[in-house]
Amino acid sequence: MNTTLTSLNWRYAAKRMNGKQVPSAKLENILESIRLTATSNGLQPFTVLVIEDKKTREELFTAAVKQPQVVEGSHLLVFAAWKRISAEQIDSYFNMVYEERGLEKGSLDQYANFLKRNFAGQTEDQIFNWASKQAYIALGTALVAAAEEKVDSTPMEGFNPDEVDRILGLSEKGMGASSLLALGFRDEAADHMVTAKKVRRPKEGLFVRI
Ligand SMILES: Cc1cc2nc3c(=O)[nH]c(=O)nc-3n(C[C@H](O)[C@H](O)[C@H](O)COP(=O)(O)O)c2cc1C
Repeated sequence: MNTTLTSLNWRYAAKRMNGKQVPSAKLENILESIRLTATSNGLQPFTVLVIEDKKTREELFTAAVKQPQVVEGSHLLVFAAWKRISAEQIDSYFNMVYEERGLEKGSLDQYANFLKRNFAGQTEDQIFNWASKQAYIALGTALVAAAEEKVDSTPMEGFNPDEVDRILGLSEKGMGASSLLALGFRDEAADHMVTAKKVRRPKEGLFVRI
């Protein structure tokens, strides 16, 4: 079995964590995987809050229907999807492309203008839905990266988004929480899911080969 598959078999959505700190080198690798993930048009329309502060995580614990991993892990990532994509943000993205790739400034104006028109014609809800999908790709990438670092994780949709947005002041910043990811180490004694067998649909049903 290749190493990615070994990691994916090792990982599971931890229900209890033991409070041990994720070493910073491992955390930085997981965050770098998020930075490197693919997103539509490369726009990375989300911000990831990396929350170590215990007091903030205790507040979020209640908003996340008291899921223990929020406080038993050492870090909680909040994937906050953007609700607005301004012309300035698009310009700043393309300026980065020109700079990093040594392209002539303005050479991608047609593409940039298309994106500006596209987002100008969308509601905040529509942009949030699209941005959330991009944030979910990053969540998936982080799940794999964490497993490869032998760091346990729990992806979470089980939370009250309005409460999380309020606690973190996300609405004022034009964002909304789309998913959470607790990072830490499994508590083998307390977590009833540690030994649970993986349940997945057989490949014959999942894949249609044409
Ligand atoms: C987007 C998403 C949201 C999830 N939300 C929660 C959650 O709120 N709490 C939880 O304990 N597990 C949550 N899970 C974990 C899934 O239940 C779990 O991944 C699934 O049952 C497969 O099991 P495994 O990941 O342990 O192999 C979530 C998973 C995903 C991908």
